[in-house]
Amino acid sequence: MTFAAIIVAAGSGTRIGAGPAKQWRLLAGRPVLQWSIEALDRAGAAMGVVVIPPGEEARARALLGDRPDWTLAVGGATRALSVQAGLKALMVPAETPVLVHDAARPLVDGRHVDALLKALETADAALPALAVADTLRRVEDGKTVTVPRDGLWRAQTPQAARRGRLEAAYARWSGPGEPTDDAAVVEADGGTVALTPGDPALMKLTYPEDFDMAELLAGRTMTTRIGQGFDAHRWGPGEAVWLCGVRIDHDQTLIGHSDADAGLHALTDALLGAIGEGDIGDHFPPTDPQWKGAASDLFLKHAAAMVTARGGRVLNVDVTLICERPKIKPHREAMRERLAALLGVSLAQVSVKATTTEGMGFTGRQEGLAAQAVALVELPA
Ligand code: CTP
Ligand code: MG
Repeated sequence: MTFAAIIVAAGSGTRIGAGPAKQWRLLAGRPVLQWSIEALDRAGAAMGVVVIPPGEEARARALLGDRPDWTLAVGGATRALSVQAGLKALMVPAETPVLVHDAARPLVDGRHVDALLKALETADAALPALAVADTLRRVEDGKTVTVPRDGLWRAQTPQAARRGRLEAAYARWSGPGEPTDDAAVVEADGGTVALTPGDPALMKLTYPEDFDMAELLAGRTMTTRIGQGFDAHRWGPGEAVWLCGVRIDHDQTLIGHSDADAGLHALTDALLGAIGEGDIGDHFPPTDPQWKGAASDLFLKHAAAMVTARGGRVLNVDVTLICERPKIKPHREAMRERLAALLGVSLAQVSVKATTTEGMGFTGRQEGLAAQAVALVELPA
């Protein structure tokens, strides 16, 4: 079913303590807000609005990346005002289901979305909710009293309602106080509300210690994948060779359609292999004139961007160059730095090694140079 998403990220995160507001902090290496954008986009949102504090457009736009159907809106002083700002910016028909989601709940995924859209077929609003498991106590006048927990549920987001219904309900809200969620607004307007299965992973980041728990849960939702790549190019007349993105003066060059950087080619194939995306030739056909003489940096960047687009990240890579000459060791650190920059990872995540084959085989006879690589990536499970 077609649906639209509103991610509210206009809060100032006072309870999380000193430092940046929680939507910009990193969770397992990615900004909190980015998790929800990627998850709802992947779950099939036809369009989305991210509601942000004033002055944060540049930072938020970078997180939207290449998503032409996503836009930004500036939020208000309360969550309710921010949701309304999002609705205003959302150009979809009145009957389109809208999922309103707290940026502070980064671990949403497609399963939550499917259940909500299904529930919306028979209810005016739907939300994931978890039965309260702990006994509750109320503190009153210095004394504490037990509160029966029977029938109590914890409301989470995303919360679903059709766009027209939600907008009208917000417009008619007359209190008491400020609504803290969307289902409450539809309900106050006479609408029916359905509960879908809640999930501990939909926890809201509110206090500093919540980040520790979310890191653990984020790890649980990721899976690791390995890929390997191999490439070889023939030596020919020339004065320099490109290896792992570094130019080395040499009395020969490697012959190829692009710059013949076998190190980058092997590593690109390793990354593509880890995400099951074919090989370098599928993405950059050697028959296509636009790749003639191309800097192979482009190929590796493309593969790394594909990992990121899937909500994944590169954990580590290891490249082995196989040749008798040139000597690789003097250039190894420059190669690691170049690869780390191209992949957007730290130096510690990149290894470059070299070996000869002691005169044996095509590399030993110096007919050509070979490279092999492995890449380990983490992808959403
Ligand atoms: N939110 C919003 N606009 C506001 C207030 C909150 O868009 N004026 C968003 C927050 O960014 C968050 C969600 O609503 O994604 C839930 O709010 P909450 O957890 O209370 O976040 P903050 O208001 O940022 O934090 P705090 O209440 O601790 O200041
Ligand atoms: Mg708040």
